[in-house]
Amino acid sequence: MRSELIKKFTEIYGGDGSDVRLFSSPGRVNLIGEHTDYNGGFVFPAALLQASTIAVRKTDSGKIRIAATDLPNRVELDITKLADYKDLDWGNYQAGVAYVLQQEGYEIVSCDILYHDTVPFGAGLSSSAAIEVVMATTLATFSNEAKGISKAVDMIEMAKLSQKAENVYCGVNCGIMDQFASAMGRQNQAIFLDCKDLSFKYVPLNLTGYKIVIGNTKKKRSLADSKYNERRAQCEEALEQLKIAYPEAECLRDITVEQFEDSKMLIQDEICRMRAEHVVYECDRVLNSVKALNDGDLMAFGRMMTASHISLRDLYEVTGLNLDVMVEESLKIDGCIGSRMTGAGFGGCTVSIVEESAVDEFISTVGKNYTERTGIVPEFYISEAGNGGREITAE
Ligand code: GLA
Repeated sequence: MRSELIKKFTEIYGGDGSDVRLFSSPGRVNLIGEHTDYNGGFVFPAALLQASTIAVRKTDSGKIRIAATDLPNRVELDITKLADYKDLDWGNYQAGVAYVLQQEGYEIVSCDILYHDTVPFGAGLSSSAAIEVVMATTLATFSNEAKGISKAVDMIEMAKLSQKAENVYCGVNCGIMDQFASAMGRQNQAIFLDCKDLSFKYVPLNLTGYKIVIGNTKKKRSLADSKYNERRAQCEEALEQLKIAYPEAECLRDITVEQFEDSKMLIQDEICRMRAEHVVYECDRVLNSVKALNDGDLMAFGRMMTASHISLRDLYEVTGLNLDVMVEESLKIDGCIGSRMTGAGFGGCTVSIVEESAVDEFISTVGKNYTERTGIVPEFYISEAGNGGREITAE
């Protein structure tokens, strides 16, 4: 992969490739804890092996030039005018990261970049976070080198700045989960993250005899951004009303299940009450899931995943026909012990825990039934937890 990418790089930008470096940052799958991150809650994602990898060379052109292996697009960003690229169809995420880093005092070094992405786009596996975090890691590394700073780049900082770029530059009001998982992922581990204070623990994915299977519904996530922002607003409204009983609550995560049940009628709007119910119970499910995994109780973990999907379907209303059909068909397979949508919803992917010996049957039968019911041919990926953003120095 390394030599192939460097070869493509030199075909576009010239040179012999000896001064080209590689950086990479993965997509993520969230195992449980959906729509909780922007409510200060718990999430439990793992980084994927699929990633956004770049070949990059420093230049003195005053520009950041960007190309991609799978798209004809090319962009050229003037590093003195980084505020000007918000409306780019492609390249605005990268420009946003460069802009935010510059605002934060990083020295932006001119460079030529070739992106190679293996995270499917728009599938709810955080292809955009992967693009952002690899950009941030590269630019911060170059900035440190330019300033003679020898310490390693702070990857939590990269996650925060990437999220900020997406919020302020690209206008997507996302939480921190995707960028955090992309920056901090670790092989064979999931990340139990508290989004209120960003404390986290790695939890080994000891799935002996089982596999994580991702099902891509291939349904485009239409209207996802506006619905996403609407859900956020509904959660904020619910919190305001719950504060009458719990004035010290800073976010919905601060409300326990018992407190919620005692006081939910303070939330006047029924829809807002449903949204808050999902968040409060989902946070509880994450805690129980992590405990179940630590106790080796995979069945309990699977049951929690399925309960999460039902809550996202009935209370948070972000699933839609395609995700529901995929989960329904998945759960019909013997050996599938839990299944749910992952990511923002409204299309995208499901994640299921499937007994290793049933994986082939799972993929063919779920695939066939899903196509019969929706007319769409899905894709499946057997997933392993991979490492987070970094420079790749060896083959
Ligand atoms: C998207 C956002 C995340 C998170 C999930 C839902 O992936 O980028 O911050 O809110 O949706 O859990």
